[in-house]
Amino acid sequence: MMLETVAKETVVLQEAQRLQELLRGVAKSPTQRWTLGDCMAIAPYTLAINRFKKEQNAVILAHSYTTPDLVYGVADYRGDSYELALRARDSSADTIIFAGVWFMAQTAKIINPAKQVLIPAGKAGCTLADALTADQVRALREKHPGVPALCYINSSAEVKAVCDVCVTSGNVFDIAQKMPGNELIFVPDLLMAENIAAELKRRGTPKKIISDGSSCCVHDRYRPTHVETLRRDYPGVRVLAHPECSPEVCERCDYVGSTKGMMDYVASSADKTFGLLTEVGLVNRLEAEHPDKQFVGPAGVCGNMKKNTLMNTLGTLIDPRPEQIVTVDKTVAAQARKTIEAMFEWTTK
Ligand code: 13P
Ligand code: SF4
Repeated sequence: MMLETVAKETVVLQEAQRLQELLRGVAKSPTQRWTLGDCMAIAPYTLAINRFKKEQNAVILAHSYTTPDLVYGVADYRGDSYELALRARDSSADTIIFAGVWFMAQTAKIINPAKQVLIPAGKAGCTLADALTADQVRALREKHPGVPALCYINSSAEVKAVCDVCVTSGNVFDIAQKMPGNELIFVPDLLMAENIAAELKRRGTPKKIISDGSSCCVHDRYRPTHVETLRRDYPGVRVLAHPECSPEVCERCDYVGSTKGMMDYVASSADKTFGLLTEVGLVNRLEAEHPDKQFVGPAGVCGNMKKNTLMNTLGTLIDPRPEQIVTVDKTVAAQARKTIEAMFEWTTK
């Protein structure tokens, strides 16, 4: 009995050491880093999740905005919306656990319908995806007949079903530029719509962008003063923003791009200090993967992404609650699939 206890404790300690190695540079709170003690507390969960995952031939996809214990402790793949949509499409696992928000898990189910798709956070919303109905898009399309309609991936399955091409922050500018004609409908991010118009003008291929919807509650809070303060406090800082920020913010930054775009920018830059106008999960990923660099700035928190925890991920694997099981109406899914598949095609055109 005594030996068994010692063996179990050794396994937990080894797991905690593995986790601490991965999380060493990551802030757990504004004043604390992940300690071995913190990792000891979560090790029983990561051990159990990784065991159940194998037994059930499940794969865990985690968006970079979820917490670092999920991202580095149990996720098989971590990334932005586009990378995870590709992983979901190509997955041969029986079950896909999507640690993200509802529209992301719904997208996974739409493009790989034979799989069971589960989301630990249940119906975790997004201020963009929740902002617009399919009827609003239909009304817009009736008012502007013949104009191609792009929807941001942060939209419901019903909205995707009535658009032509889905886009993500990583491919939106290129796809918008490639679309025929000089007018475009883009929903549901009003700020990204303005950024598309500005970027296409910069590229010498201006288009009129017609939009409806709202904004991201995390990225819409940034103002030009945030950029100016970063430049004042950290001379030489590179300021990076997500295209969900306002054009007034974006035009003052050194780089504007998707979650993956920002990671690639940091990885290939010789600079040492980066100001990030985006969600704290991305800052945590950069801290984990670039311990030699400094990340500053007023990172935001997406409360919906943070609803995914180790505890509810384990619960999802053992006995998912109805709201954690992703289902999409078949007719809606068939139409939405065409829109998402069109994105994969236009991305490589
Ligand atoms: P990414 O595609 O860059 O991951 O963006 C998704 C998102 O919700 C950003 O707020
Ligand atoms: Fe939606 Fe904003 Fe959260 Fe991204 S950060 S999921 S856009 S609310």
